[in-house]
Amino acid sequence: MKTISKLIFTAVLSFSALSFQAKAEDFPEAIKPLMQKYTCFACHKVDARLVGPAYQDVAKKKYSVDKIVALIAKPQPSNWPGYPPMAPMTNVPKGDAIIIAKWINSLR
Ligand code: HEC
Repeated sequence: MKTISKLIFTAVLSFSALSFQAKAEDFPEAIKPLMQKYTCFACHKVDARLVGPAYQDVAKKKYSVDKIVALIAKPQPSNWPGYPPMAPMTNVPKGDAIIIAKWINSLR
């Protein structure tokens, strides 16, 4: 009996882990390809905390587009106490970073 309840418990746990997993599908079509290409979706959601803050919460900081572009290449972990530091995403070309930054600010 114990083994069975343990099994059920494990099954429920892995199911909830799955449903909380990051999904690129949650992003609007316009930004989804960039989120996938640069793996941002693995740590960020539009409206909820994942590994990193929700983009809606980033939008609340009222950064300029330039500031967000700079933060993508060189994150400032001190801006987000309680979160692990984000690795610098220097592989994102400026043009794409600007598109992402404008989209983040459109969430305000
Ligand atoms: C491995 C996980 C991870 C990935 C991948 C990731 N981020 Fe982050 N991001 C974080 C965490 C954690 C924070 C908060 C701590 C920090 O800023 O260092 C953060 C913070 C941010 C911030 C807020 C910066 C600030 O100082 O307010 C922006 C903007 C951001 N990420 C954009 C992006 C974009 C765009 C991508 C994809 C190009 C991306 N992130 C990929 C984990 C990640």
